[in-house]
Order: sequence, then C-alpha cells, then structure tokens
Amino acid sequence: MAVTVTTFDKMKQAGDKITWLTAYDYSFGHLLDQAGIDAILVGDSLGMTIQGHRTPIPVTIDDSAYHTACVARGVENAMIVGDLPFGSYQVSKEQAYENAVKLMQAGAHVIKLEGGELQNETIEFLTERGIAVCAHIGLTPQSVHKLGGFKVQGRGESAQRLLDDAKGVQAAGACAVVLEAVPRKLAAEITEMLEIATIGIGAGPECDGQVLVLQDMIGIYPSKSPKFSKNFMSQADSVGGAIEQYVAAVKAGEFPAAEHSFN
Ligand code: KIV
Repeated sequence: MAVTVTTFDKMKQAGDKITWLTAYDYSFGHLLDQAGIDAILVGDSLGMTIQGHRTPIPVTIDDSAYHTACVARGVENAMIVGDLPFGSYQVSKEQAYENAVKLMQAGAHVIKLEGGELQNETIEFLTERGIAVCAHIGLTPQSVHKLGGFKVQGRGESAQRLLDDAKGVQAAGACAVVLEAVPRKLAAEITEMLEIATIGIGAGPECDGQVLVLQDMIGIYPSKSPKFSKNFMSQADSVGGAIEQYVAAVKAGEFPAAEHSFN
C-alpha cells in the first residue's frame, strides 16, 4: 500500500518505526521499494555520493529533479521525498514554491528543506498551497561552512534553539522533521514533544524513524562514513539482503545502537 503522510502519523501513534533510505536512481529506487522501505529520500547527498563533491552545495534544482524522476520510475509504494538543494529556496517563499513544484512534477510526494525558524514562513507558504513539507534541523549539510564542519549540533545552550526550531516547524505545518547529528537525549525530548514524526540520522534510537545514506549503508562510499552509519553489507550476501536487514533492524529498534549515537 502507498505510504502517505497519514501513514507516518499513524505509525508514530502506534510506535511503529519509520524506515527511510536515500536513493538517486531507478534500480535502487525499485530495490528499496521491493524491500518495503517506507520512504525514499532523493537527498542532495547526491552531490557527494553520485557527483563526487565534498559537500551537497554544488547540487542544482535540475540535478534534484532529474534524480527524483529516475527514482520515481522504479517506485510503487514508498513515499518519495524530494530535497530542495542549496540556493533553491532561501531567496523567497515564491522561489521555494517554484522549485518545490519542479520536484513534485518529477515525482516527489514530500519536499524536504533545511533550516528551522528561518524557514517557518516558507513552510507555511508551501503547506497552505498543498505541498507536504519535511523540515531538516540539527546538522544541516548545506550550511557546513557556516557550522565549521560536519559536527554534532544542539549540545549545551544551543539545545534550546533546536527545541524551538522543532516546535516552530511543526506549528508552520511540516509533516515530519529530520534530526541530523543531534545528541540522543535531546532527540528523544523533541520526539516526545512533537506530534509529527522525527526521522533521525545520528540522533539515537528514540526517533520515530531512521534514515541513512544508501552508499554508507552498503559500504561503497570511498571516503570514511560517519560514526552514526552502519555497513549492513558486512553480514548480507546481496544488496537487497542488506536493505532488508536495515529495515528489520530499524523496525526492531536494534539500529541505531549506542555506538551510532551521540551523547
Ligand atoms: O541529502 C540527504 O541525504 C539528507 C540526509 C542526510 C538526511 O539530507
């Protein structure tokens, strides 16, 4: 059955873990869908995994739309989340709308964008116009140079800022929020506080769902993978098998373990 934003709400209420992975093409889109993944994020991580850049910053809206369309051709049931890349939504809410339309016309069901409070007006503008929006807070890779690197966010005094961001994006109408590289306790507090689903990546097992970058999860990314990732290929005899193990581990609450989380 097709996964929708209503499915996420029901899963959160029932305590059923939500599984996401990234994919950028038809074949992997199809494989993930067959493995029963709930959502496929056509992330701007494609700048690193597909294009070989060091950050997602060079990715354009045309790149995102192209890869979203490739994935969409392979998917029957999973929700497809399109990612607005750097510079495609920060100028104005109208710019965000125009580019969200491009991703939806390429096959995305939900649009993800980075940022908390600063994006609330944009989230409201898009959702009022019928677009389902997923926010992304914590480590926001498009701001890597401002953050001074790919670092854990929300430690110490900045925790309150993340709590406010989380509340704000929900109030603005977001249907879910990705929490990236956030201390486990803080992510658990945000998950408890929000009605919408939290999808964690390096944010501990208490989040309502988990997402990983596919190339990290099957161990083929040439550079070092982050601490919060796990290579599921090491105990699987096929890529499909590794994806199924990931889905089962997230559903059972076995991934992420303590060693993939931050204090
Ligand atoms: O682009 C991406 O893959 C992402 C995930 C890391 C959440 O935003």
